[in-house]
Amino acid sequence: MISPSLLSADFTNLEKEFKILNEEAVDFIHLDIMDGNYVPNISYGPGIVKSLRPLTDIPFDTHLMIENPENYVDLFADAGSDILTIHPKTTNHLERTISLIKSNGIKAGIALNPGDSIEVLDYIIDELDLVLIMSVNPGFGGQKFIPSALRKISEVKKIIENRNLDTLIEVDGGVKIDNAKSVLGAGADILVAGSAIFEKEKTRDNIRKFKELL
Ligand code: DX5
Ligand code: ZN
Repeated sequence: MISPSLLSADFTNLEKEFKILNEEAVDFIHLDIMDGNYVPNISYGPGIVKSLRPLTDIPFDTHLMIENPENYVDLFADAGSDILTIHPKTTNHLERTISLIKSNGIKAGIALNPGDSIEVLDYIIDELDLVLIMSVNPGFGGQKFIPSALRKISEVKKIIENRNLDTLIEVDGGVKIDNAKSVLGAGADILVAGSAIFEKEKTRDNIRKFKELL
């Protein structure tokens, strides 16, 4: 499955970008929420997400790179998010925040940074719909894929299979047409791609190329 990251879209013409995403029937739309605190960049908030919601029926895959996400879960759920993914270190009570997300009737995920171990998953993975493996340090689009993510993907895949779960693995950062195969081969279910998808006059073709690989 493919989840284009809106961060690289043309923000002066989002209606046009959504038209392409709708016509090419992407699986998810990845929304990167950055607070300038947990990550060194600021993107957009729940108000923008809400105003985008009427433009499509495609599920919103919202990636929260913010401190204390528990304070914003209800807002992003009300804005129309279908999945909320949080970073474990941003919340004092991880299980409580995951439960809060699910109590809104939406899916919950955990994101692991390149330097994070997978140990945090041990007591929580049964409650997750998705594990997001970051293949760059969060904060910016257009960075280079960090190869150690591949081993992490296959280790998480093993855990999911051993426990007979249907948790999805999503991979985010530096995913391009030319490394997508190895990312999928390692066990990824959902590819996030920003700069490799949104490109003037080429977005539609880029989506089609990814879809051919999938
Ligand atoms: C990075 C974000 C990513 C980013 C991906 O912090 O989480 O979703 O937009 O962009 P590319 O595909 O350009 O690496
Ligand atoms: Zn992201």
